[in-house]
Amino acid sequence: MRISDSALIKVAKKYQTPLYVYDFDGIKKNYQEFKQAFYGRKSIIAYAIKANSNFAIMQMLSKEGCGADCVSINEVKLALKAGVKKYNIVFSGVAKSYEEIKQALELDILLINVESAFELEDIIKIAKEQNKKARISIRLNPDIEPKTHPYISTGLSENKFGVNATEARAMYILAKKSEYLEPIGLHTHIGSQLTDIKPIQDSLQIASDFAGELIALGIDLKFFNVGGGLGIQYDDEKTIPLYDYAQSIFKALGDKDLTVICEPGRSIVGNNGVLLNSVVGEKLNHKTRFVIVDGAMNDLLRIPLYNAYHKIALLDASDESKMSFDNDYTNAKGEKCNVVGPVCESGDFFAKGINLPQTKKGDIVCVYSAGAYGFCMASNYNQRVKPAEVAIYKGENGKLQDKLVRKRESFEDLLNNQIM
Ligand code: LLP
Repeated sequence: MRISDSALIKVAKKYQTPLYVYDFDGIKKNYQEFKQAFYGRKSIIAYAIKANSNFAIMQMLSKEGCGADCVSINEVKLALKAGVKKYNIVFSGVAKSYEEIKQALELDILLINVESAFELEDIIKIAKEQNKKARISIRLNPDIEPKTHPYISTGLSENKFGVNATEARAMYILAKKSEYLEPIGLHTHIGSQLTDIKPIQDSLQIASDFAGELIALGIDLKFFNVGGGLGIQYDDEKTIPLYDYAQSIFKALGDKDLTVICEPGRSIVGNNGVLLNSVVGEKLNHKTRFVIVDGAMNDLLRIPLYNAYHKIALLDASDESKMSFDNDYTNAKGEKCNVVGPVCESGDFFAKGINLPQTKKGDIVCVYSAGAYGFCMASNYNQRVKPAEVAIYKGENGKLQDKLVRKRESFEDLLNNQIM
């Protein structure tokens, strides 16, 4: 969807800033494209809800038949509450607590992605207590360099995630023998914001060969979980076409008749969200120009955390034809500046050394590609309240509609759990 700058400014004025705005039609379309890429194959698209766990987004996706990849029992419960079918929910995580496993088994979700031998022991104990067979999948760490930021690489031997093939093999054999376990899947996930298909293909091949070994050992494998990780365009990155990605999975699988589980997060929501901020003021410190806005690192942490690049533009209401949101626009005009927020540290910036025209109080500065790992990583640092979230979508009359899908926090919310 292309949304005019003036429409975005109206939304910003209506709901105040900082404000997350999501293109719901775009999110739905991305999910449908994923489903389409796996057309003709048994597949579950399990949206990684850690990327954006807004309830309205989850509800919309669940209505489309989307599953959920969860990383805590609260994510599992949220997915169920949003209408995701239990048989479309998978539960990963490197240190699930005893209580979380207990609840996951009670809730009877599709499977638990097991990440260590000690976790397997816990699952056996709990399944025994509940007198049931726990459906599991083991996360294989293929030791692949995914060529992404080190903080979001997960499939290297030095990473904490999953287990190596030797350990995984032993765990599958134990699981096969156990009357309380049903090993039905194999899981890998090598990292996030992946833009190079080669490491993905390498890890798929390793996983598929390993799946072949397991089948030969008599393990009744049904699911081949390829994780998430597809990168999006923040700047001018070349991303992996969905078609190529799906074909790589099919090629690696060969004639193995397994249901593919895919856990996309960022690629569903990332480029369908923006963070709108109002300019508070401009100042020159020595020779450095600062455009100070009301949004900050507590609202969108990934820029300082990973030194990540997000496009930023000063929205322009004067030009009705100027379109935003499809991430093809940058403000090349104007003088160099740093775009910063009100938080009390120098790590609080959205951009350094970008060009922006002269701004005035109340102008709207838009940070693009903020739909994934944006709100969900927000905090109350400096006792700042978390922003509101708004959905935009085409209504039945074909006109753009907006709807508040999460209220801005209030001072009272900040006091909620304080003991006074
Ligand atoms: N599956 C598993 C097991 C994961 O750990 C993740 C992401 C995904 C799926 C979804 O990956 P995606 O399709 O979104 O790349 N906060 C970081 C990203 C952390 C990713 C964590 N795991 C960021 O802002 O870039």
